[in-house]
Amino acid sequence: MKTRITELFGIEHPIIQGGMHYVGFAELAAAVSNAGGLGLITGLTQKTPALLAKEIARCREMTDKPFGVNLTFLPTFSAPPYPEYIAAIAEGGVRVVETAGRSPEAYMPALKAAGMKVIHKCTSVRHALKAEAIGCDAVSVDGFECGGHPGEDDLPNMILLPRAAEELRIPFVASGGMADGRSLVAALALGADGMNMGTRFIATKEAPVHDNVKQAIVKASELDTRLVMRPLRNTERVLNNAGVERILEIEREKGAALQISDVYDQVAGVYPRVMIEGDMDAGAWSCGMVAGLIHDVPSVQELIDRIMGQAHDLITARLAGMLGQPVRA
Ligand SMILES: Cc1cc2nc3c(=O)[nH]c(=O)nc-3n(C[C@H](O)[C@H](O)[C@H](O)COP(=O)(O)O)c2cc1C
Repeated sequence: MKTRITELFGIEHPIIQGGMHYVGFAELAAAVSNAGGLGLITGLTQKTPALLAKEIARCREMTDKPFGVNLTFLPTFSAPPYPEYIAAIAEGGVRVVETAGRSPEAYMPALKAAGMKVIHKCTSVRHALKAEAIGCDAVSVDGFECGGHPGEDDLPNMILLPRAAEELRIPFVASGGMADGRSLVAALALGADGMNMGTRFIATKEAPVHDNVKQAIVKASELDTRLVMRPLRNTERVLNNAGVERILEIEREKGAALQISDVYDQVAGVYPRVMIEGDMDAGAWSCGMVAGLIHDVPSVQELIDRIMGQAHDLITARLAGMLGQPVRA
């Protein structure tokens, strides 16, 4: 399939694997890129720029296809050394960066000087337009359904994507709630040039996380996510568990007086315990409503081939058939 996104990134299929803390290691990024999509290493999961350089080198050994690095600008108590991370990405020969969290404006000169294509992930049309204005090459438009940080506007993709299409000139991918060929065709119909998936890629053979995490996603329904940290305006969509129930209880008790320190134990340092040790009640970890559409743990190649096959059949048979065109066997 050819779209503005496949052209921009030099990939076969318009499918991107979003950055995911403690999931986006070289194994997953390489598997996605080898299957014709765009895999992303999650920059800040690597504790130092030197470790990120090693992870990039490891990924390079596993694929000769393009891959990228996610750089997340989140409110943290001590800001990571972003310029050094960008230098490690540039020196590693990576030419695609997914930014998220806050505007990458301050880092655009460095990213552009290094010849990078920048795709900024954001949750509103106004932030997407800002990304376009500061020179981003594309945006990833993350709807309210998404796993991770959906922002505070609560706009689902059925509205957000066509609104983005009305306003943007640069290409964009649909993110949040994407799982299969139906999602891809719907995203294209709504004006996107491809799709970005997070949660779906965790439930794959190559995702280097504990099997408990994959099974929890397969078992979960679309009703099993919760929004935490709303009162802090740092909303995160997570899979419900005992730790999450505790956060919600604290949020109810504290009301508007809630401070990050009140829930710190349930949100900090949770990812290695969940993703590596498989402790499913450790606390809050991001997961999308799309869990309700995930019923198996295929290889990344099987998943991407299946998505592209479904998309092809939907377009050429189901949709064309509705127009009275000849239906393929
Ligand atoms: C476990 C997990 C961790 C994530 N970590 C990050 C992150 O560190 N940085 C980031 O920009 N997005 C992160 N995301 C968001 C994804 O990149 C993607 O935007 C989101 O998962 C899309 O929604 P979906 O899960 O419905 O596909 C994370 C998502 C999940 C599920």
